[in-house]
Amino acid sequence: MSVISVSRLKKYFRVFKRKEGLLPTLKSLVKRPFETVKAVDDISFNIEEGELVGFIGPNGAGKTTTLKCLSGLLYPSEGKVRVLNYEPFKRDSRYLKQISLVMGQKNQLWWDLPSVESFRLNKEIYDLSENEYQKNLKELSELLDVGDLGKVPVRQLSLGQRMKMELIAALIHHPKVLFLDEPTIGLDIVMQKKMRDFIANYNRIHKATIILTSHYMADVKELAKRVIIIDRGRLIYDGNLVNLGRKYADHKVITAHFEKAVNGENFKHLGKIKTVNEKSLVLTVPKSKAISIATDLLNNYRIRDFDIEEPELEDIISIIFSHKTS
Ligand SMILES: Nc1ncnc2c1ncn2[C@@H]1O[C@H](COP(=O)(O)OP(=O)(O)OP(=O)(O)O)[C@@H](O)[C@H]1O
Ligand SMILES: [Mg+2]
Repeated sequence: MSVISVSRLKKYFRVFKRKEGLLPTLKSLVKRPFETVKAVDDISFNIEEGELVGFIGPNGAGKTTTLKCLSGLLYPSEGKVRVLNYEPFKRDSRYLKQISLVMGQKNQLWWDLPSVESFRLNKEIYDLSENEYQKNLKELSELLDVGDLGKVPVRQLSLGQRMKMELIAALIHHPKVLFLDEPTIGLDIVMQKKMRDFIANYNRIHKATIILTSHYMADVKELAKRVIIIDRGRLIYDGNLVNLGRKYADHKVITAHFEKAVNGENFKHLGKIKTVNEKSLVLTVPKSKAISIATDLLNNYRIRDFDIEEPELEDIISIIFSHKTS
């Protein structure tokens, strides 16, 4: 049985539609104009134990709303959601003890207190023994390499340090299922990498089932084998990250390093030149022509090194979303 199963989930919000001007405002006092926002509009997927799935989509696609439904913060408008065989919105304490939702944009730590105070509070909420608490705290502190930072008031921490503390607070009860909503937002490259390593380790050590949203494709590339892509509340792809390029990308990227200096002008007619300098060329060509162009280059130039690759994930994603909005 799947750890997470989502079947035809819909979450609609009714929002008050404001209009500018006095007359519309007065009218709206009598009859309030409402509008329905289809934040999540009929999506289904299953996730097995220990999977780490990337959940991606443009702003407003419905990612956070989905994660809130899965963690029991929102009641679905329609459809079925089961996680660890619980219905999340019932907020059964046995369920809540096994999951965690981490939102990179929100913090749960007490601002003026050292983080350990927040950890202690969570120890009580999750009903951990002193032993379990100390053991988990030690493990998480080592994995995240935080030293004594737990004793420093949260407001004195840097964003990256605070995010580490947020993670310790969110994971102190060793949840089996983790919903990570943009956990690396705003972090510098080095700190993003540390977070990714931590997430990968946590997934491996605890066989945790993880859904991760991020706008940084490096996170997704490094961590997830499988991605679920949504756009405007609808699921548009669920599958292997590797197959994504094969399915959507209409071009390939050819990289050539030449033995001798070349003239960039010679390649213009072949495709779109990404970069060119004396001895190397990166060229974007239509998929259907990739092989013949590659053969041409190999036959006509002395080449030291050569590659034909799928486009970068960022490029594929932008192709997918530009098709959907046109
Ligand atoms: N509480 C709410 N009331 C009304 N509308 C909402 C509410 N929460 C979300 N929405 C709307 O639902 C849609 C989906 O929002 P959601 O936050 O799930 O997107 P997202 O994929 O997480 O986007 P982002 O990448 O920007 O975080 C948006 O149009 C948003 O305005
Ligand atoms: Mg969001």
